[in-house]
Amino acid sequence: MSDDRTVKIEVRNLSKVFSDSPEPALELLEQRVPKDEVLERTGLAVGLDNVSFDLYQGEILVVMGLSGSGKSTLIRCVNRLIEPTTGSIRVDGEDITDVPRDELLRLRRDKFGMVFQQFALFPHRTIQGNVEYGLEVQKVEPAERAEKARRAIEQVGLAGWEDAYPNQLSGGMQQRAGLARALAVDADILLMDEAFSALDPLIRRDMQHELVALQEKLQKTILFISHDLDEALNIGDRIILMKDGAIVQSGTPEEILTRPATEYVERFVENVDISKVLTAEHALHRARAVAYCGDGPVTALHKMKEENLSAILVVRTDFRLAGMITAEDADRARRDGVDRIESVLQTDLPTATRDEHLHDLVNRLAGLSVPLPVVDADHKLLGVVSKGGLLEALAEGGSD
Ligand SMILES: Nc1ncnc2c1ncn2[C@@H]1O[C@H](COP(=O)(O)OP(=O)(O)OP(=O)(O)O)[C@@H](O)[C@H]1O
Ligand SMILES: [Mg+2]
Repeated sequence: MSDDRTVKIEVRNLSKVFSDSPEPALELLEQRVPKDEVLERTGLAVGLDNVSFDLYQGEILVVMGLSGSGKSTLIRCVNRLIEPTTGSIRVDGEDITDVPRDELLRLRRDKFGMVFQQFALFPHRTIQGNVEYGLEVQKVEPAERAEKARRAIEQVGLAGWEDAYPNQLSGGMQQRAGLARALAVDADILLMDEAFSALDPLIRRDMQHELVALQEKLQKTILFISHDLDEALNIGDRIILMKDGAIVQSGTPEEILTRPATEYVERFVENVDISKVLTAEHALHRARAVAYCGDGPVTALHKMKEENLSAILVVRTDFRLAGMITAEDADRARRDGVDRIESVLQTDLPTATRDEHLHDLVNRLAGLSVPLPVVDADHKLLGVVSKGGLLEALAEGGSD
């Protein structure tokens, strides 16, 4: 996420009642009557119930909730594909809730790119033609249009497929084309409604990673709808959880998982594999002992004996990680008359960085006779993750 906390979209007290005479429903919502009961008593369907949030410049905000919780209604209100009943939406400081219709089209075109679950590509147009579509609508001249489309196609990894038709592409590729189409118009804001939900799980995971990587470069502001918590955790800088048209919790993935605000959120969170959320940071401990490159084998053996270790990590004097040495190797070096352990180290040691997910460290830790070293960008040893430390962190579930 960017550190820039400029508010890009400000949503305040947004409600949606699907009716031309919404007043009876609004009145009941005001009295905190749940939407099921509002429907029962008035026959009016509530889509949104007093929703407020900020979307910051450069972030990915994921809105999640079960089917019918109001996610699509919300994202469609943001660019007024659905007219909100009450409340305000400011985009770049401009209240768009009373922008006249004709101007609205311009606003929607220039500020928003949309990506849907169903890729909605024109079957009779090539990929190039599909991606150029939004630019055509904007009346961008052909040469510039072609160039912008080409760039967007390249950004989503579809270079070489410009002349193919949608039905010649896999689902994942079609969704990339959908994304390229949204990127081509160069809007600051991307609205993505269940954009990856139609993809099979592995492709879906790839697309999530690619979106995050792309976002690093492009720094768009993204509102992403999902009903999948793992997806939300993978891509969201922040998450909003909705139920019955209202927001029940918002926060960082970490906050949602470790401090679920309501039983509803808790039930949502129960199914998540916590190892995919917690990072090495959460299981980081100081190394119990380290040896230095300049130590002799006897010194290294002594340090291991003191701490009852069968192997020890070895660092340089500036604490950059050099490798490890086992008690067995140190003992052999002693017999061979080696005076510095530096020459007999195992240097091809797996390492981790502090922001890697515990899930990804499990394999690296297996079969290692020292704890897994966690290093910074200069390869300096920050600490270690041991098998016990990892289990402990998972058991605690990150509760600090
Ligand atoms: N045009 C409409 N007329 C009446 N009710 C509607 C309309 N559109 C949506 N609703 C109702 O509003 C509520 C929210 O619907 P919405 O489509 O926003 O849910 P969602 O969270 O996107 O669900 P899903 O995960 O299934 O896409 C639902 O109760 C739905 O029945
Ligand atoms: Mg929906």
